[in-house]
Amino acid sequence: MSDRLYIFDTTLRDGEQVPGCQLNTVEKIQVAKALEQLGVDVIEAGFPISSPGDFNSVVEISKAVTWPTICALTRAVQKDIDCAVEALQYAKHKRIHTGIGTSDLHIKYKFNSTREEIIERAVAAIKYARNKVDEIEFYAEDAGRTENEYLARVVDAAIKAGATIINIPDTTGYCMPWEYGEKIKYLMEHVEGLQDGRAILSTHCHNDLGMATANTISGVVNGARQVEVTINGIGERAGNTSLEEIAMIIKCHQATMPVSTNINTTKIWPSSRLVSSLMNMPVQPNKAVVGKNAFAHSSGIHQDGVLKNVQTYEIMDPKDVGIDENSIVLTARSGRAALKHRLSILGVELEQEKLDKVYDAFLRLADKKKELNDDDLLMLVGADKAETNQVQLESLQVTTGKGVTPIAAIRLKVANEIFEAAGIGNGPVDASIKALKQIIRREMTLKEMTIQAISKGSDDLCKVHVQVEHDNRVYYGFGSDTDIVTASVEAYIDCINKFKH
Ligand code: KIV
Ligand code: ZN
Repeated sequence: MSDRLYIFDTTLRDGEQVPGCQLNTVEKIQVAKALEQLGVDVIEAGFPISSPGDFNSVVEISKAVTWPTICALTRAVQKDIDCAVEALQYAKHKRIHTGIGTSDLHIKYKFNSTREEIIERAVAAIKYARNKVDEIEFYAEDAGRTENEYLARVVDAAIKAGATIINIPDTTGYCMPWEYGEKIKYLMEHVEGLQDGRAILSTHCHNDLGMATANTISGVVNGARQVEVTINGIGERAGNTSLEEIAMIIKCHQATMPVSTNINTTKIWPSSRLVSSLMNMPVQPNKAVVGKNAFAHSSGIHQDGVLKNVQTYEIMDPKDVGIDENSIVLTARSGRAALKHRLSILGVELEQEKLDKVYDAFLRLADKKKELNDDDLLMLVGADKAETNQVQLESLQVTTGKGVTPIAAIRLKVANEIFEAAGIGNGPVDASIKALKQIIRREMTLKEMTIQAISKGSDDLCKVHVQVEHDNRVYYGFGSDTDIVTASVEAYIDCINKFKH
């Protein structure tokens, strides 16, 4: 019998720290419910002291889900812990994740402290928190660069103080897989509380050198029994270990791996699409397990082999990760019930009024585009976010083509007043932005623009991500439309609506 490997999902905490990926509480609840269906054991719902929004999300997620443990992050500080306890009040299973930096770099430069004092602060925080919630997880930040002998002393003290889960983060993604594995092995061999089962070790690996998944697996092989992961591997900088990779590695290698998980792998694909869509964060096409090309064989030799026997080039069945080609397309003839059903598979439950609105938008889009896929549906669900914005695009008319000067005429609603302007440019997007800038006279510079067709076909919806600099800050915006220029202008306007001044 293999050991149970606990899956700790931090999409809504570490994942949500990515600039431009912030979710509102309703969206976070949608993701939390999808994580529950996926079968994760722990949902890290936020860092309550960091903002009222984070606090509120932990409260609402606690009410919305039943089975997973809800975890709240804190520093090793009493006021953080008090705030987290309050935020967790409605959770059925509550965990506080508290900790402190343990590498010499953190001790010296972050805390201007000593090794002994850091242990004292860790112990004091754990003791303060331990009777207030069901369980305490302790993190030794930058454990990846913490000397093993000292780390073992920290872990020993944390367990004696009452922590039952010890997180060993490779915060900077620096470790080599064998080095991280040796660290876990060293702790397993030198800390009594890990040998007698009073506590388990958890991995938390960042992907700065592309080794997060390899490090996590190395940690598991050497004794860790919890892994901290995010959907699509999102997270600070290059991201965290991705849930889908760990779940599928363990499934594909079940004969030799010492552990098994509770993950329902058929929910991986819808969860991935949901997170990507709500966070406006495209999944790279060649991303393992959930990239668009992960199961697409393009070379003749591969196609020939797959047609003869699918196992020649495929180690996973797409159905095992929830890709079912027959069920993902809806058309103008699909009814409300079909839409509702497909959305519920994607983890989206809508009230009747919102469903009716989405269905109307669905029919309008189905008129322009014959077949609607999951991404289109998720886009429509998020589309009414813009309805309450200060600046809204009323209409856009563009004349462009070879041998003509692109001209755009734009009509905007700004705080309920209508404004019109025209502009010329070196292309239709440039002309439209110039027209827009005649109405919104703010200092702003387009820093980056990414245009992405969602799947295939010239009638497809297109997604545009932009970064606009204003007042020394960079704002992230997103737009989508079957018209590429409209999508670009919508993305630009999305940024303007986020301007702080
Ligand atoms: O990467 C890290 O060290 C973290 C901790 C706060 C757990 O995210
Ligand atoms: Zn992290």
